[in-house]
Amino acid sequence: MRFVSALFLSAAMGAALLMSMAGVSKAGGADVFKSKGCAACHYTDGPAKEKTIADQLAKKGPELWYAGSKFRPGWLGAWLADPKPIRPYKYNSLTEKNAGGHPKLSGGDAGQVKDFLMGLTVKGVAAAPPMKDIKKIKGKKIKGKLTFTKKQPCSGCHLYPARKKVTGGFTGPSLVNAVARLNPNWIQAYMENSKAFKPVKDMPNFAGILSKADIRNVTKFIMSFKPKAK
Ligand code: HEC
Ligand code: HEC
Repeated sequence: MRFVSALFLSAAMGAALLMSMAGVSKAGGADVFKSKGCAACHYTDGPAKEKTIADQLAKKGPELWYAGSKFRPGWLGAWLADPKPIRPYKYNSLTEKNAGGHPKLSGGDAGQVKDFLMGLTVKGVAAAPPMKDIKKIKGKKIKGKLTFTKKQPCSGCHLYPARKKVTGGFTGPSLVNAVARLNPNWIQAYMENSKAFKPVKDMPNFAGILSKADIRNVTKFIMSFKPKAK
């Protein structure tokens, strides 16, 4: 009797172990995300939920339901383990400085949560090209630079690394190191239809103002943004 139940138990444990190994990374990451309280400030199921300014102001952190289409996995895993401010101002504020202090994850947890978040992709946004092919993405950098720095007010709201120093405005996320952080295909999708991702006005909608070619060019310019001034 004892022998039988022990056998049964170990078989059941073996099956459970196999099952948990199959989905170890993603299921694990989703669990860590919940148990660490991340869901108190971020939602991970799309489409966008915020409809009014009040909805937007009630959000304590950016939406993550398309994180897998937006971020590069290498950047995401490293940032979760050692987060540094991205937005110069506190989330949803136009006056208070972002003091940092975003919750940190230990190495193992950061890896699992990164895998979970990278699984949250949206249709119509292709995965980021490998870093070694970043120079091959279509667009004219010089034209994109003109759009970003002169023709459109982008640099009035976004920090970016210019030739000698980091410069620009503070009301949007910093675009310093955008090449390592953002998927260029997502940037284009966002510029073409920002409402799908952020329906409550947070950045002027450039759909209809910038042509597809303009958007490709400005994305190409953004992909030249490294961690430091050149
Ligand atoms: C108290 C609210 C709060 C909690 C809890 C929280 N976050 Fe955040 N999170 C924020 C805010 C605010 C930002 C924007 C930070 C910035 O721009 O510097 C952010 C940014 C992020 C980003 C980058 C998103 C983007 O669009 O730039 C990721 C990824 C993220 N958080 C993941 C997590 C994970 C994983 C956890 C759980 C360990 C977590 N957060 C816990 C508030 C929170
Ligand atoms: C009036 C200020 C403003 C202007 C002008 C502006 N942006 Fe933004 N931008 C924002 C805000 C605000 C967000 C998103 C805020 C958030 O997610 O918390 C954003 C988000 C972005 C993002 C995504 C960054 C990220 O990490 O989530 C990119 C890329 C971007 N803008 C590029 C541009 C380009 C290119 C232009 C010019 C064609 C431009 N922006 C003009 C305010 C602005």
